Order: sequence, then structure tokens, then C-alpha cells
Amino acid sequence: MAEPRDTDVTIGVCYYPEHWPEAMWADDARRMRATGIRRVRIGEFAWSRLEPRPGHYDFDWLGRALDTLHDAGLEVVLGTPTATPPKWLVDAMPDMLPVDARGRPRGFASRRHYCFSHAGYRRECARIVTALATRFGKHPGIVAWQTDNEYGCHDTVLSYSHEALVGFRHWLKERYGDIHLLNEAWGNVFWSMEYRDFAEIDLPSGAVTETNPSHRADFHRYSSDQVAAFNRVQTGIIRALSPGRDILHNFMTFFLDFDHYAVMKDLDIATWDSYPLGSLDVFPGETAHKAAFARTGDPDMQAFHHDLYRGAGRGRFWVMEQQPGPVNWAQYNTDALPGLVRLWGLEGFAHGAETISYFRWREALFAQEQFHAGLNMPDNTPDRALFEVEQLSADLKALGPLGAAAPARAALVFSYEAAWFLRVQPQGRNFNYVEPVFAMYRALRRLGLDIDIVGPHADLSPYALVLVPSMPHVPDVLAAALATFEGTLLVGPRSGSRTASHRIPDNLAPGPLAEVLGVKVTRAESFRSYSAVPVRYDNETFAFDRWREFVEPAPGTEVLAESEDGHPALTRCRRAYYLAGGADGALLERIVERLAREAGLSVCALPAGLRTRRRGPWRFVFNYGPAPVDISPYFTDRDFVFGAPMLAVGGVAVSRFSDGP
Ligand code: GAL
Repeated sequence: MAEPRDTDVTIGVCYYPEHWPEAMWADDARRMRATGIRRVRIGEFAWSRLEPRPGHYDFDWLGRALDTLHDAGLEVVLGTPTATPPKWLVDAMPDMLPVDARGRPRGFASRRHYCFSHAGYRRECARIVTALATRFGKHPGIVAWQTDNEYGCHDTVLSYSHEALVGFRHWLKERYGDIHLLNEAWGNVFWSMEYRDFAEIDLPSGAVTETNPSHRADFHRYSSDQVAAFNRVQTGIIRALSPGRDILHNFMTFFLDFDHYAVMKDLDIATWDSYPLGSLDVFPGETAHKAAFARTGDPDMQAFHHDLYRGAGRGRFWVMEQQPGPVNWAQYNTDALPGLVRLWGLEGFAHGAETISYFRWREALFAQEQFHAGLNMPDNTPDRALFEVEQLSADLKALGPLGAAAPARAALVFSYEAAWFLRVQPQGRNFNYVEPVFAMYRALRRLGLDIDIVGPHADLSPYALVLVPSMPHVPDVLAAALATFEGTLLVGPRSGSRTASHRIPDNLAPGPLAEVLGVKVTRAESFRSYSAVPVRYDNETFAFDRWREFVEPAPGTEVLAESEDGHPALTRCRRAYYLAGGADGALLERIVERLAREAGLSVCALPAGLRTRRRGPWRFVFNYGPAPVDISPYFTDRDFVFGAPMLAVGGVAVSRFSDGP
């Protein structure tokens, strides 16, 4: 192994000094450093200790904790405590609680018990953040601030409170100006839903049956805007009082309830919380797939979020919380295979992370997260993950500076609004946004490609291949980018099928993409997976397993795949392909491989558990699979630093890459 060298990335940990006797802090800090940890996040749930009574701040303990960590050479990320308003505050302002769709307030006694729309709560947040940033803003140990914690966790973005109602009416008035324009945009003549004044509009809940999807789409937009505005209150204060520090927030797995690109406008770094095993258990998927990856996590799920948040962070992202062992919150909380804590860390770095931070330093002795592993056991004995983090630190030293994530030539266009539109009118129970997006991502990654996930406003010119899995409303800027895009393009079903206000476009789907794609969609159907529609492609039979569209190709548009009953399934107009249904994984893989080759990308089909990503001069290879793999047939690189050619289960190989997979 090479001599230890300086690295340009850091390992971090989440720490709760308020949970442990002060006498332990200095030793904790010393041991963190000895493990190779350089960053530590603290404070994000500590409001009741920072302000035990209204207006009575007790910041001295936090000052001592900061000094102790700083003196040990640690860099601190200070969390604002606004995800956990204390009891006295809720009692003083009970209408700050979020309200569920049935009108029931969601009470105190856990966390995130606030409504994003509540002006009084925003003022309280501004007050505590101002006090904290005034006292600690220039502390030399603080390198960054985290606003709040996991916006929207526990289903808290949509709140049906009185404040939300007032805010929503105001927001609609700003958006439409005139009530007649809103009636027109929503189509309220249908079922006599017309309003005479913005003050007559309710939140979209409690009606006899389904409310207007346009109404619900706008409520999603409004609620998302509240998250961004709530966050902005804090960032403005921190920027003024704590200059030179980064501001970040920790986002979640497959979480679509607000527009993360909008929130990121006020932040410097996107961070996310990576729980590969908990997430695998909680998200939909085939039992056999879950069984195969129960102790490693899905081979693409972590990578997907690294790429998503690298894009949202304009190149800058961290993992703020990395799973160290069993968690407490999934339906079943499986332990990881030995080596996976290290693998997940290296994979994050391979995708460009600046910091991977583990949750948490020591398993808690009390309260909700008993059973959730840490780097240390509750009695302070080092747990297995601690040794894997030590190994990760040694790996980083062996590699030296990693440089930037290698530029990708393939991009996937991602949109939060698309998720809301498909949610307000799914038209088939099994049609959601995440599954087709993730299936396309997996199809790309199985080919060994580096991938960017970009928002609908991105510049697409650097890419040779662009995939748009589904985009019901195509914003003008995306329509323009796709019209001039010179690479290979694949657009998935339902794209361009709605206007901004959730109406059907006058020219039918794909609306503004009609010219680019050379098709018109005349009808759509959804079905249960047992009624899958067989699709012939490349002399083989695949399937549309949840959705299909009947399309009329324009003159000059080629039909490349057909359903067995004779309808176009995949069309091509110049270099733009349209996929007229919800394709099964095998069909997607086949199509994506063809397009990647056509786009001139160098691809190789990797086995199910083997994955790769390049950063700086390095190729990283990860084995999520059930058996050791000889990786030499797949990669031309020979200069391995560790892990090859036989890559163990849960192993990572790193080589200097020559070219292509
Ligand atoms: C995250 C959260 C942490 C902790 C962790 C447990 O969602 O941000 O505070 O609860 O889960 O896995």
C-alpha cells in the first residue's frame, strides 16, 4: 500500500454532547480524531437545552462543547434546532402544529411538529437562529451550518392548517391575479367548482370525492414554496452573522414533496442522509431483489442519490448521515455485511462527496432510537463500524487527493413537479414517478456509465445522451433545450401530457415536444402488472407492465418496437426516441444500451451487483453481489491500488483508469 498522503475529502460524524456527561466530551473528541474523523455535526435537536424557558438562553454548554471539539482539531457543523420546537413554545402557540389532511393537528412528543406556513413559528426560528449565530457565528471551530433537519420527514410538507389556508389563498392571488383566470386555468366550470373570490378557496381536502388535480398541483407548489421560504429565513441570518461558513441542509432518500432545486438556491452544499438497508426495506421492490441485497443495500440506490444531490448542489455534496449498522425505523432492521460501511463511504466519495459523515458517534441509551447502531455501543465500546471508518480513513490516505467527480456524458432529467403531477392524477395505481426514473438510472448504470442527474432547467449541451423518464409538464426552458439538443434523446411516457396548470395541451401529448419526438398520443391505458402488454423489440418479447399509450407517428418517424397487438411502442424521429409505455426492466436495459452505443459512449454490461464510478484519476468498483467477482473481464485498467482482480463480497477495488469501462 502507498505511503499516507493528504486527502481533499473528509470523514465526519454526528454527535449529541447534550446526551452525554460533559466529562466524556474531550475523550470522545480525541477518539474521533484517532479514528480519522475531521468533521462533527452537533446541535440540531437541542432547543430545549439551548432555551429551557422562553427567552432564557443557556448557550454556555454548547460553547464548551464547541471549544472541546475545536481544541481536538475537529471542524464543526452547527445545526439549527428548529426541527424540534420545545414544549413551552408549542403550548404558547398551539396553532403552529402541522395539520393532517383530515384536519387533525399533529401533536408534540416527537419531532417536526410545526407547519411551514406558520408566520409566528418562522419568527421564533429567526429569533433562536439569530441568538445562536450572534453568539457562535465567528467561532473558529465552525465550518458550516445545517438548517433544521430533514425538511419534510414524517410527511410534514403538506399541512392543512389555518395558516396554510390563508397563505395558499394569498399565493393563488399572487399567481393568478384574477379569480376568473384561476377558474379558467383549473377548468372550474367542470362540476360547478367556480369561485367568485380567492377567499372562497379551501385547501384540497375533505371534499366528497377527488378534488380538482389542478387545485392539488398548485397546493403542492405552494407547500414546496413554503419550505424554501422557511429555509431562507435562516440562511439570511446565518450569512449575515457567520460569514465565510457554508450553509447546508440534509435531504432524504426518494423524497419528492418539495422542490430541492428551489431550496438549494439559498444553500451552498446539498447533503443527504444515506440509510441503504432501511431504505431498501421501506421502498417498493420485488421480494427476490430485496432478499438478494438485504445486507448490502440496492447497488444503485446510494449512487442515485449521490448523483441527484451532486446535481442539486451544483457539484458540491456530502453525505451527512451514513448508516453504521441496523437502524430503528424500518419495518425490519437488518445488519450490514462486514465491509459495507466502508463500501458505502468509498462509493459516496467516488461520486464526488466532499464529506461522508456517520450517524452517530455512539448509540443512544434512551428514547426513540434505541437499537440504532452507532460507531460506538451505548457503553462506549467501539462497534464494528468504527473499525470500518478507520479503514476508510486509511484508504483515503493511500489514494491521496481524489479530485473532482469525472464529468458524465449521460444525463437523466429529474423534476419534483413531475412527481407531484403524477401523484395528483396517477390514472393507474402502480404509476408513480420514482420507479421509472430509478429504472432508467439503473439501466444506465448497469452499463458502467458515469451519470449526472439534472433539473429541468439544466444546460444539456455537455451530454451525448439524455434521458427524460417522464415529464408531464415540460417547462418552456426544457422544451427549448430539447429542441436544440444535438445528442441522443429518450423521452418516456406521459411527457408533455399536461400544461403548467394541469390541463391537457391543445395539441395533445407530447405537447411542446410534438416536433422533437414526431408523435401524437391519442389514448392511454393503465393496467395491473398481470395484464402486461407484450412488446416485440429486436426479435424478442418484452413488456409494458403498467402503462401504454397509443401514438400516431408523424411522417418520417420510424417505429422500432411494437406491442403484439400492433401499436408503436418505441419510435424514433431523428435522434429523439419516444417510449410509449411503462417498460419492464429488461426492455429498458435493451433500449438504453442501444442508445448509449448510438451516442458513442463506451459501455459494458456489468453483472447485477457490480458497479463503478470514476473520480479524478481513479476508477472505483463496488461488489454488492452475493459472490466474489473477477473484475478483469469488465475493466481494462490494470494499475490497482486495492481490491482486484478478485473482488470480495462487499469489496471495493480502486485503480487508475485507462479509458472506458
Ligand atoms: C434520520 C434523521 C436522524 C435520525 C436518523 C436515524 O432520518 O435525520 O435524526 O433520526 O434518521 O436513522
